[in-house]
Amino acid sequence: MRILVTGGAGYIGSHTVVQLAAAGHDVVIVDNFANAKRSVVPRLEALTGTTIPVHAFDLTDRVRTDELFATEHLDAVIHFAGLKAVGESARKPLEYYENNLGSTFSLLAAMRRHDVGRLVFSSSATVYGDRAPVPYREDYEPLAAVNPYGRTKVMIEHVLADAAAADESLKVAVLRYFNPIGAHPSGTIGEDPLGIPNNLLPIIAQVAVGRRDKLSVFGDDYPTADGTCERDYIHVEDLAAGHLAALDALAEAQAPVNVWNLGTGRGTSVLEMVTAFEKASGTAIPYEIAGRREGDLAAYWADPTKAHAELGWRATRDIDDMCADTWRWQQGNPNGYPDA
Ligand code: WQD
Repeated sequence: MRILVTGGAGYIGSHTVVQLAAAGHDVVIVDNFANAKRSVVPRLEALTGTTIPVHAFDLTDRVRTDELFATEHLDAVIHFAGLKAVGESARKPLEYYENNLGSTFSLLAAMRRHDVGRLVFSSSATVYGDRAPVPYREDYEPLAAVNPYGRTKVMIEHVLADAAAADESLKVAVLRYFNPIGAHPSGTIGEDPLGIPNNLLPIIAQVAVGRRDKLSVFGDDYPTADGTCERDYIHVEDLAAGHLAALDALAEAQAPVNVWNLGTGRGTSVLEMVTAFEKASGTAIPYEIAGRREGDLAAYWADPTKAHAELGWRATRDIDDMCADTWRWQQGNPNGYPDA
């Protein structure tokens, strides 16, 4: 199939592009490069052995989005594009609502006009909010995120459910990610947050490669085994494979919207991750215990059984794989992707 990958130059998008091409799909990328560098594209072309059409514009531009669908003759869309920094979303909520919701409205309008009826949407475990019982299950209600970023994901899930209910030609897969980390085993693509990273692994990797002095552990007084927060970290390669499985499932799907958790079903603490990364890199990771971060939950992880039962998918890589692959990427690219 010919598949549009929105945000395809980004961390999860780029890893999914590689697997789509390996599976024989034709891939088209649209990205506004707000959180990605153009230098990832030649690396994707080298990994896939293909030329990848890249359209550089923002999906909130409805005219250009429609033109893209008119010229690219697409069969399906995987929609990663969006702003995703939790803390930033609290500072700039209107920008997050405008971008994340506006790009989705623009995409859905173009899909309808050009008879593209399959959509895989990048959602997040953040939609479960702070009251869901752990492990998180897809049938939990009500969805209630606790920050504007998460609320854009909840709203978009509702928009997609209503759009698919009203248009029988539209079939949607909603994938709720837990904590994506790791990198392609080649070490040529990986996570390269622009500016100061928010997430744990890029920060640990930057400490290991000497770009940062130490890690601040946000609290060691949580009700967990070692007092630090536990999360369900999933290798980005497993996550990408989940997108291909969901895309294939849409061909036979009866339900208008199909929701799947993409997680491992296991929690790992911050200090366990530090130990794993020290083992993978052979480098000490200096850290200090700092105060808790506003909004952090103590511990949560996925119930991944629905995706296994319905997609035949499960995560296969463990924390050591995630740390080893992250380290290979970061060691080979200490400053991330080149600017050019
Ligand atoms: C993980 C753990 C921190 C940095 C976020 C978003 C979520 C999703 C994934 C988009 C926490 C601790 C972190 C540091 C630390 N993103 N930590 N020191 O918050 O679980 O999830 O990213 O969909 O929506 O909320 O991930 O990597 O920020 O934090 O101690 O310098 O590491 O307290 O316990 P999080 P994270």
